[in-house]
Amino acid sequence: TVTHVVLTGGIGSRLWPLSRKTLPKQYLELFDGESLFEKTVARNENVSSNMIVVGNIENYKMSNTIMEKFNKPFTHIVEAVPRNTAAAIAFAAFASNPEDILLITPSDHIIDGEDSYNDALQKAIVLASQNYLVTFGIKPTKPETGYGYIEFENEDVIAFHEKPNLETAKIYLENGNYFWNSGLFCFKAGTFLAELEKQEPEVYWNSKTAWEANIDGFLDYELSLKIPSISIDYAVMERSDDIKVVPAQFEWSDLGSFESVYDYLVHKGHPIDANRNIVIGTSMHTTFIGVKNCILIYTIDALMVLQKENSQEVKQVYQQLESIA
Ligand code: GDD
Ligand code: MG
Repeated sequence: TVTHVVLTGGIGSRLWPLSRKTLPKQYLELFDGESLFEKTVARNENVSSNMIVVGNIENYKMSNTIMEKFNKPFTHIVEAVPRNTAAAIAFAAFASNPEDILLITPSDHIIDGEDSYNDALQKAIVLASQNYLVTFGIKPTKPETGYGYIEFENEDVIAFHEKPNLETAKIYLENGNYFWNSGLFCFKAGTFLAELEKQEPEVYWNSKTAWEANIDGFLDYELSLKIPSISIDYAVMERSDDIKVVPAQFEWSDLGSFESVYDYLVHKGHPIDANRNIVIGTSMHTTFIGVKNCILIYTIDALMVLQKENSQEVKQVYQQLESIA
């Protein structure tokens, strides 16, 4: 069986004020009136027979509301405190049979091209059933430092490099033998757990102890705190010899920053002025004079104007405002 594991941990602080702690970006109905969470479930509905949603308590409630729209049974795992993706995926793996194939997806990505997506999944499922840890590779278009890079040679993965510095990312981009890691993964529950135990025994054993004490999918706070916080990318992907990559023909964006939201919206025909300024969140008449490449974000209680190139700085604004965000 294939189990779809949805990770819904983040608050999307780089998309403030659109994304809030009380309404993270994956629940915003920004896209044809649907949320990214809903699109994620729908996209993987046919390929999987089970579903596990892993997230915090606030997200648990929002996920449940959306799941009412689907006629699909699902299991929830509610984290007491975020311990990053290695642990979040370990909980889902402990909740499954070792032979179950897990398709891990974030809940906040945009994917276009249904047929290509399904093709890639089918290839990944075959490789996962042969005990590989499967990633999906995206052709890089810029020296992005916020992604993982998969070094490949023909069909084989040479190495996985999580979040390189800019200089290194530029070399990877020029080299041509690197994909971006999309953040989707496919493997057997047992394959992942064996690799986690080998590479990060502390994460493995503490996640196991925490999982075994769960009450109806809810994890204990004190036991969770003992789990080292590390992502699957650093914990397992960078160190394993059993990685395969399926090159993705589908269109992908993780909408991680306003820069990627801008690129996505413009690509989809969102209005843009002669100086490449855009407006998000209002149909009010807006004029930009003497400024270029700006994004104006309008919400009911917050307004932000930012230079597209400075999108990474939004996170700091969010952190300063956290009490009122
Ligand atoms: N449930 C749960 N618990 N989910 C979590 C947790 C957690 O503790 N931490 C993160 N997540 C979810 C996030 O909400 C997101 O959907 C996904 O896991 C990945 O986490 P990010 O924090 O967004 O990772 P990243 O963007 O730095 O890097 C990852 O994604 C890139 C592509 O978007 C890596 O896999 C990179 O290699 C990859 O290129
Ligand atoms: Mg991300």
